[in-house]
Order: sequence, then C-alpha cells, then structure tokens
Amino acid sequence: MDWAASDLKERDLYKLLVNTVLPRPIALVTTVDAEGRANSAPFSFFNVFSHAPPLVVLGIEGRSGTEPLKDTMRNIRETGSFVVNLVDRAMVAAMQVCAIDFPSEIDEIAAAGLDTVASAKVAAPRLAASPVQLECRETVSLSFGAKHRNLVVGEIVHLHIRDGIVDERLHIDIDKLDLVGRLHGADWYLGLGDRFQEPRQTLDGWRERGRPTIPEGETS
Ligand SMILES: Cc1cc2nc3c(=O)[nH]c(=O)nc-3n(C[C@H](O)[C@H](O)[C@H](O)COP(=O)(O)O)c2cc1C
Repeated sequence: MDWAASDLKERDLYKLLVNTVLPRPIALVTTVDAEGRANSAPFSFFNVFSHAPPLVVLGIEGRSGTEPLKDTMRNIRETGSFVVNLVDRAMVAAMQVCAIDFPSEIDEIAAAGLDTVASAKVAAPRLAASPVQLECRETVSLSFGAKHRNLVVGEIVHLHIRDGIVDERLHIDIDKLDLVGRLHGADWYLGLGDRFQEPRQTLDGWRERGRPTIPEGETS
C-alpha cells in the first residue's frame, strides 16, 4: 500500500510512522524550570545526530490544553539546557511513571523513585540510575506546524558513563549497558538481545569478490 502523506489523517500518520521506524532509542530527559524545579520525561523521537560537533535531537509534541508546551520544552526554553539519560531495563517502570502527565505541583522524579545527581555543566540534574547521562546545551530549536511541535538540537557538553561499562580504551560493554528501545504500539520495547554481525565492506574487497555467488546445487 502507499499513500500521499497529505491524504493521511494526523493520527494515521502517527500510527504508520511510529510502528515502522523501529526500534527507537529513548532519552529520559531531565530539565529544570526557571525556579530550579526538576522535571523528567521520556522521548523516543530522539537520536544522536553527529559527534563533531556532538549533537542530539529531540522531537517534542505540543499539548492540546491551555499550556501549549510540554514541561520539558518549556524548561529548555527557560534554561537553554537539558540532560539525556539513556534508559536501561531496570529503569523502564520508573520511566513510565515519568511519562504520566502529572500536574506541575507533583515532583515526577520523586514519584518515580529516581535519585538525582548534580550535573557538571548544566543546571538540570542527572538521573543516578541511568548508565549514560549526556549533559546538553540547546543549540537551536525549530517549531513546526500549528501544534507546537519542536525539534530541539542540543550540543553534548559533558558525558557520564557508569563505571564498569567502559574500559580505559573506551570500549563499551553493551551487555552491561542493557539499554532498551521503543517498539510498536503504546507499550512495546526491546532489549539488546537479538544481535548479529555483518562485516563492513571495502570497495577493493567488493571488486575482488564480485557479485555474490549462488552455492552449487541451489538455484536463484
Ligand atoms: C517511551 C516513551 C517515549 C515518548 N516519546 C515522546 C516523544 O518523542 N515526543 C513527545 O512529545 N512525547 C513523547 N512521549 C510522551 C511524553 O513523555 C509525555 O507527554 C510526558 O508527560 C511529557 O512530560 P513533560 O510535560 O514533563 O515534558 C513518550 C512517552 C514514552 C512512554
């Protein structure tokens, strides 16, 4: 099947995109407001965009009520910074609590039972339970459409990786990292269990090998 994007209802576009562009990494983003109150929420419209400069991107939807921005976006506007806390298996239930649309007087980090640690360079705290915490300064944010959809680009200014996961040669033990990604539907996730290697090819190697050959006895 195929569609012109402009023929699809917003809800159907959402369904088709979030259930096909899989898996997506998850940033549990911490921010503070102008008074220094901390907030945390998960975002899977998230990725690392480049290493030089070291940039991350977040896609943050608007709200339908009287306050058009999610707390995370409002706080990034107010303070110009945020922390990306990557989510491991042990943090998934707490992450789901952070996704609840709490009234602003409820401290969702405390409600989720998460402890915070001061950051080195930004006002927002880090989440102690997260194996990888990236302190970011907002570089630019772009607004799209009438619904306050924002694309935030942030520069990573400080990185924290839990001891025991990275060695002195900066090799990462990804089993110890135990990160999860977002899958389809409202609540499907996956771990790093199903992995395979596919060697990277060089132009010379490809020229030597030529086209892939079909083993004898098999037909194409
Ligand atoms: C795994 C997961 C991923 C999510 N990804 C996004 C996202 O990419 N963009 C978004 O606007 N909301 C996303 N949400 C919903 C927000 O986390 C939710 O609206 C949250 O309450 C926003 O909190 P805030 O107002 O404190 O910023 C996601 C929720 C979950 C559980």
